[in-house]
Amino acid sequence: MLRRLRVSLIGLTLLAALVALPRVARTHEPITTKVMFNKEVIRILERNCLACHAPGKIKADIPLTTYEEARPWAKAIKEEVLEKRMMPFQAVKGYGSFQHDYSLSQRDIELLTSWIEGGAPRGDAKDYPKELIEQRLAGKTWPLGQPDLLLQPDSEAQIAADGDDEERCFVLPTGLKQTRWLSALDFQPGNGNIVYHAAFFLAKEDVVPPNVRLSACAIAGESLGNWVPGQASTRLPAGFGRSLPADAQIVLKIRYHKNGEAAADRSRLALYFAPANTSKAVRDVAIKSPAVTIPANAENYRLQASYTVPQTAQAVALRPRLFPFAKFLEASAHRPDGSVEVLLIAREYRYDWQPAYVFKKPVSLPKGTRIEIVAYLDNSENNPRLPNDVSQELKFDDPLCELSLANAPLTKQVRR
Ligand code: HEC
Repeated sequence: MLRRLRVSLIGLTLLAALVALPRVARTHEPITTKVMFNKEVIRILERNCLACHAPGKIKADIPLTTYEEARPWAKAIKEEVLEKRMMPFQAVKGYGSFQHDYSLSQRDIELLTSWIEGGAPRGDAKDYPKELIEQRLAGKTWPLGQPDLLLQPDSEAQIAADGDDEERCFVLPTGLKQTRWLSALDFQPGNGNIVYHAAFFLAKEDVVPPNVRLSACAIAGESLGNWVPGQASTRLPAGFGRSLPADAQIVLKIRYHKNGEAAADRSRLALYFAPANTSKAVRDVAIKSPAVTIPANAENYRLQASYTVPQTAQAVALRPRLFPFAKFLEASAHRPDGSVEVLLIAREYRYDWQPAYVFKKPVSLPKGTRIEIVAYLDNSENNPRLPNDVSQELKFDDPLCELSLANAPLTKQVRR
């Protein structure tokens, strides 16, 4: 894909290292609030932040699990939550209706702000929800319950201390004797400090090991889903499932983000089966942009892609595939009767945190519905996420969006 992305991650890491110095706490600040860390604040952090900001998680360098850890970051927390950068949720409210809204509620923002502006008091030690935090940090439970099948690579992957992000693929045989329907796939990183992203694919049937000489990544076929830190676990609605052929092999693709220490990882993939009478087959359709060259310094470059639904279908989820220079994406459904429904407007998103947006209720898309994706890219120096110091011409030929459709035929549009 984009070579510039790699450069960006080193740049961002350096920048993060420079920025990640806690603000010095002022002493003798008068306490003017009743909001206490051990009572209200830690519970908000537990629900919204500790999936990333805790030991063993992706932002272990800024842990927020205790008063001692969080206090030096109080001012920064206020900034992040008021600017709505944390927690990172990109969907603009009022467009589309999703099962999970990852944004902080207004009430939680007010409580956090009041705590910080009121001198950030600790509160009573006995109010600290020790068990809740321990459970969160252990992270061993599967939110969807005991998996029907648990898959794991044979051995640990050894990841070097430094360097660019690295993608590794693992082939996981299911050993299933018959075709099954999947109602959910869930994932747990073995080493949450370095696992930045995971994606699951059916291995292409025609190149099944042990005969292959191809790398595990090269046999990744149809998409089965994705995971990012903090993403909620979801099941498909009743009647919906992803079809898993007998003897299927799953390719698990993990993106590792190096953090200065050599590390090992052995992640786990959990499979949940749907009943045999499942009838709505879900597949991911990648909606791809035509190949374009984006000029250097283009501030508002408009990219468009569309996909026409070949037979009546239902959309269950949508995942924007956004990049550091993209700043806005809108997905809408244009139905044959002339009606238009906005499915998602994403903005201020982070390219390294791209969860799937699961619709509250599957969206019905009659045959001939056109899904339109419009994205605006900022390839100018105004874009703080620009991968390079200097804006350069950019060749772009990638999916803008993945749509999980029930009863979608496998077409040429389906790509990784
Ligand atoms: C999905 C993972 C994730 C979640 C959830 C998350 N953060 Fe972060 N946070 C990050 C990452 C990654 C960074 C590093 C900076 C960046 O890349 O923007 C960060 C940086 C920060 C910083 C440092 C900003 C600075 O000044 O350098 C603060 C403070 C922060 N987060 C607070 C929070 C709070 C409060 C919450 C919950 C409301 C939260 N975060 C939820 C991933 C997350």
